[in-house]
Amino acid sequence: MRYSLENPKVFNNTHAIIEGWYWALQSTELKKGKVKHAEIMGKKLAIFRGDDGKVRAFDAFCPHMGAHLAEGKVEGNELRCFFHHWKFSEQGKLNDIPCRKHLKNIKASVTAYPIEEKYGLIWIWTGKTPARGLPYAPELKDIETDSMLGKPYVKECHPNVMMINAIDAHHFASVHKLPVDLNLEPKVIDSNTIEFSNTTKVPNTSLLTKLIGLFYEGPLTYSLCYHNATTGTVTLGPDFLHFYIMFAIRSNEKGQAEGQTILLTKKRNGLFGKIFNPIILRATRIVGNYFAKGDTEVFKTINFKFKTPIKEDLPIIRFIQHAEKQKTCDWGYGKTQEFTGQEIAVEKGIDQKQFDFIQTLLGSAQNSTKTMKEPTHGK
Ligand code: FES
Ligand SMILES: [Fe+2]
Repeated sequence: MRYSLENPKVFNNTHAIIEGWYWALQSTELKKGKVKHAEIMGKKLAIFRGDDGKVRAFDAFCPHMGAHLAEGKVEGNELRCFFHHWKFSEQGKLNDIPCRKHLKNIKASVTAYPIEEKYGLIWIWTGKTPARGLPYAPELKDIETDSMLGKPYVKECHPNVMMINAIDAHHFASVHKLPVDLNLEPKVIDSNTIEFSNTTKVPNTSLLTKLIGLFYEGPLTYSLCYHNATTGTVTLGPDFLHFYIMFAIRSNEKGQAEGQTILLTKKRNGLFGKIFNPIILRATRIVGNYFAKGDTEVFKTINFKFKTPIKEDLPIIRFIQHAEKQKTCDWGYGKTQEFTGQEIAVEKGIDQKQFDFIQTLLGSAQNSTKTMKEPTHGK
């Protein structure tokens, strides 16, 4: 099978989970000394919070006879299985069998996954050792933040499809009635992070755009920073006050997107911060809801297939290209394979000019032997 924009390998594939940080639970859902069942992207887990307040996540099943460890009990910062009371350290090592004095020759352990807690969420890394930090909003990357969570939601499409909505410049006019054309310039930050920023100034054409223009010295602020192609942070708003909205999404076995919205702002100290930050976070939620609402219907029924890419879809093409090269992991729903580092091709269904243009983008050297067989229009 050839992989192309129409048939990508990683993008929009529930069985290809990109290695990275994913949201697991809201922090408030897990109290000290409690353990919870969780299933995240095909991985069954026991997630618990120790007496020290720190969260740990283990593979769900006990290496003795397979009891689910979330039926067990938290002891200090360790977890004891319900069934025969074997106990596992915070690293997942067996350290007690009540009916035995010595554990000599009994080698058993459970896999423990890296956990971080930030923005009111518990995040899990889908591998052994984190290769990078948690998702962030670029302007807030190295500073302290305040945050607020929206309600978790489920949409009927893959997280990647939801992600590209925010850089689908095409639909800003058609769906969201934005009176300004956006030009989203991509910038690859690293193998798993890509940013798109608007470079267009607000035009001086109508009363509304003139009014909007008063708030921007340069281009209208609208940028997206994507992590693992599944969590995206939007930065927008006038020069004097930026809003930051993070959309953290993961897939489930039905091919749906399980999302969690995080509203962010920089930490402001003192009484001013105490009063101002909750207001700005609530205002951010209104902005986020406005954008999310417009697309509700399309995400209920979409059967995503990128059959006819055109120039205006350039940011989406860039996004898919970047997603396709990201390292996948062995989480997923049973059909997991190695999907790492492939190139995508564009094969047919668009006119020759568009085809050439997209080939140039994708690196014509590798694809120079591929020609389009069936130009369909424009010639
Ligand atoms: S199944 Fe866990 S201790 Fe036996
Ligand atoms: Fe939208």
